[in-house]
Amino acid sequence: MRRKIAAGNWKMNGTAAELIEIAALARAHPDPDCEILICPPATLLHRMSEAAHGTAIRMGGQDCHAAVSGAHTGDIAAAMLADAGASAVILGHSERRSDHGETDDRIRAKASTAFEAGLQAIICVGETETQRDAANTLDVISTQMAHAVPDASTGENTVIAYEPVWAIGTGRVPARDQIGEVHELIRTRLNNRFGAEIGRSVRILYGGSVKPSNAVEIFGVPNVDGALVGGASLRADDFSNIISALDGA
Ligand code: PGA
Repeated sequence: MRRKIAAGNWKMNGTAAELIEIAALARAHPDPDCEILICPPATLLHRMSEAAHGTAIRMGGQDCHAAVSGAHTGDIAAAMLADAGASAVILGHSERRSDHGETDDRIRAKASTAFEAGLQAIICVGETETQRDAANTLDVISTQMAHAVPDASTGENTVIAYEPVWAIGTGRVPARDQIGEVHELIRTRLNNRFGAEIGRSVRILYGGSVKPSNAVEIFGVPNVDGALVGGASLRADDFSNIISALDGA
């Protein structure tokens, strides 16, 4: 059985005042069936890990550099995230791909560095609306899976997040069968490349406009092992309802 994951991606939001949301979330879910992960901006990691100490909430970064350390002004090394209390890192989010020109090869290099630092990599894949309209979705996802996922991936160190770019922050969500089709493809790619034992142990999250109102339906789709949640993770009550939907799935 794959343990489900409710992951919140705060993106470039949140100051110390928002740590109150962590306390509320921890109170609401003292002993969840699923894993709860919050990925705040790097500036909050340390204080959040103190706020979440002794709770079921674990922390992740939103990106790391591919190098272990060195002259990379403004960047963050995987080991620094771990040092600040993170146990995971989101890599290859579509906003990093578009804002910073990240390629699949770069994302794979970052994931390898994350593994070395003991972090779990949440590797994001997803098609744009143009690619979906051109019926290229499955090819795009296959290519991203082939190039962005390292050979050293296992069920412990790797999570895949399927995030259609057109569904992120738009309120638009793919139909159940569209989500199911891509998650099945990702599972097949993992099985073919890593063998069934590893392939079936990697968690595959859906991300893109997940809300309390659509969570139950999305979590009912085969091979959906949880969610990567942006906007709805910023408020403890919304994220809490999504966690409850996952615990009940
Ligand atoms: P959203 O973002 O839930 O606000 O659509 C999801 C994500 O980008 O991870």
